[in-house]
Amino acid sequence: MTASIIDGKAFAATVREKVAVHVARLKADHDIQPGLAVVLVGEDPASQVYVRSKGKMTTEVGMNSYEHKLDVDTSEADLLALITQLNNDPAVHGILVQLPLPDHLNEDLVINSIDPAKDVDGFHISNVGLLATGQKSMVPCTPLGCLMMLRNHHGSLSGLNAVVIGRSNIVGKPMAALLLGDSCTVTIAHSRTKALPDVVKRADIVVAAVGRAEMVPGDWIKDGATVIDVGINRIDAPERGEGKTRLVGDVDFAAASQVAGAITPVPGGVGPMTIACLLANTVTACSRANGLVEPEGLTV
Ligand code: GUN
Repeated sequence: MTASIIDGKAFAATVREKVAVHVARLKADHDIQPGLAVVLVGEDPASQVYVRSKGKMTTEVGMNSYEHKLDVDTSEADLLALITQLNNDPAVHGILVQLPLPDHLNEDLVINSIDPAKDVDGFHISNVGLLATGQKSMVPCTPLGCLMMLRNHHGSLSGLNAVVIGRSNIVGKPMAALLLGDSCTVTIAHSRTKALPDVVKRADIVVAAVGRAEMVPGDWIKDGATVIDVGINRIDAPERGEGKTRLVGDVDFAAASQVAGAITPVPGGVGPMTIACLLANTVTACSRANGLVEPEGLTV
């Protein structure tokens, strides 16, 4: 079998278009413009790229973008004071603190100081608890994007065997909660899982989120399974010339696509969906904050 490619880039464009339509409606009917504040502490190059890209896409869908770039040695008190100010600012409907934070800052404390209603990352302990108990919450962007692609491909996920490889708070755990919410039989696998190849081989849906280049070989994949590759790993690519690199996922794409029924590529799969879902969460948060109907299809 040769897998069909799940085109995250194209799908993300349709999500952003829906967001833009809803933003325009909020403006026209209610004179409200959603606003997203992004806080970056320090100068991590990868984080700078993400933040720039988030800002650009935020304004492209018609929302306000507020960027707060803080010095690498910003004190916890100063960062918390900024978050309090953003919590109290009615023009700000979503707040994202870019992770990782420098070592001297307590990540849990900082995340849990964000107003849960503005927590567009869905990382606040209240949102984690709401998602785990099947209540309305802000849903972490990457797993939300994966779920949207899976629902779009399969229709119903009910009764399917899903294996999530990776147990992070950002992807693995919320992904498992979402799949369970859609009535999958869910296994969370990780570095200590015994007989991992056998566990993966039973899965109708594989979500790989471990951050290790091409660690899932093609022969772990069940015939016809759907593979969602969350990994974005940069590896050397001497075949492209000296010093060149390329991006690969956590799955051996060439081998897995010979076996799977459908697979997301890297790049162009999950990555574009994450930012699209951040915009979707911001417009959802703005609608909720104003007691308005939420846009359909942009959250679970
Ligand atoms: N760093 C890497 N991914 C993310 C994300 O989804 N949200 C935040 N806040 N930081 C990140």
